[in-house]
Amino acid sequence: MILVTGGAGFIGANFVLDWLAASDEPVLNLDALTYAGNLENLARLQGDARHVFVHGDICDRALVDRLLAEYRPRAIVHFAAESHVDRSIHGPAAFVRTNVEGSFTLLEAARAYWSALEGEAREGFRFLHVSTDEVYGSLGPADPPFAETKAYEPNSPYSASKAASDHLVRAWHHTYGLPVLTTNCSNNYGPCQFPEKLIPLVIANALAGRPLPIYGDGMNVRDWLYVGDHCAAVREVLASGRPGETYNVGGWNEMPNIEIVRTICALLDELRPDPAGAHERLITFVADRPGHDRRYAIDARKIERELGWRPAETFATGIRRTVAWYLDHQDWVAHVQSGAYRDWIAANYAGRGAGA
Ligand code: NAD
Ligand code: TYD
Repeated sequence: MILVTGGAGFIGANFVLDWLAASDEPVLNLDALTYAGNLENLARLQGDARHVFVHGDICDRALVDRLLAEYRPRAIVHFAAESHVDRSIHGPAAFVRTNVEGSFTLLEAARAYWSALEGEAREGFRFLHVSTDEVYGSLGPADPPFAETKAYEPNSPYSASKAASDHLVRAWHHTYGLPVLTTNCSNNYGPCQFPEKLIPLVIANALAGRPLPIYGDGMNVRDWLYVGDHCAAVREVLASGRPGETYNVGGWNEMPNIEIVRTICALLDELRPDPAGAHERLITFVADRPGHDRRYAIDARKIERELGWRPAETFATGIRRTVAWYLDHQDWVAHVQSGAYRDWIAANYAGRGAGA
């Protein structure tokens, strides 16, 4: 079996569902169920013996040791993290704890476990670390996209904590020989994304007739990848990636935020017209995020050349699927918009003049 951390979050849950749809190899899913973890994402797996869920913390070394000894996984796929830049600005401590100390704890537990393996089990073991393109910093308009050789220049507490974890993973390979793989992926979107991130926040607010908050001038650029494509890339790297290597994963789809929001508004006008008028009327420019990275772009040629991976979805097909999912799962959105979610929205948007 494989051990997945953070498998009740957005990408982790999509990964677990896709994995078990494609193979019968069981998944041990370790997740602390923070505000971002949600077992409803995995409801389809209820009663499925191939999925073993453990409610626990990656910082708990004794627990991780016990799980490795008991379940003997052939690989660890590490998604668990604090993942939202704005939250990292309001409260960086949780990011250092989970992303740095948690990754360190997992690496140490994996090293002890792997060192005691023999023969094929030792040869075949992999530690796959799921990271982000944000570690590379911010690009100017004419700069080439991020290649794997780009120097790390993280600018937010989130990206700095992910960069720190990437460095630990690299060092555990070079110093101890642990067979690690790292993926650095661009912005994901798709089903089950928590509505604090741009795309699901805009869909949820538009459906509720609330303002759509755009930070700054709306011209910050991100590369967007459908979550199913990211999951396919992780499977491919796990299967065939070379230990010690990093692979950049992206959608070849750079877009300014304002264009993303206009696209969502147009789709909602088509699929769920609002008698009060076009959804674009809700667009509201608000105070910028401190240290807001201007542009991310990914050069994903290495993973294509070495492993044959390319995204299957275009942004047009992926965003249509995503909007349709949120329209069909408004109960899911209502459940996660708990009291704690409302407190976050109040904390993040109060000083920006959005009224979101
Ligand atoms: P998410 O915030 O939706 O989910 C994170 C999951 O980790 C949650 O289920 C949470 O309960 C769990 N978790 C948090 N702290 C934990 C701890 N201490 N122990 C165990 N579990 C814990 O995040 P996501 O968007 O699914 O991102 C998953 C991974 O992919 C992260 O490592 C992130 O840095 C990386 N990534 C995300 C994106 C993106 O666009 N979302 C892009 C590139 C890389
Ligand atoms: P986000 O989804 O938080 O991802 P990240 O910061 O990791 O790229 O934000 C995507 C972009 O959208 C980013 O440039 C910030 C911007 N943004 C807004 O303009 N308004 C919002 O309310 C949010 C949450 C993000």
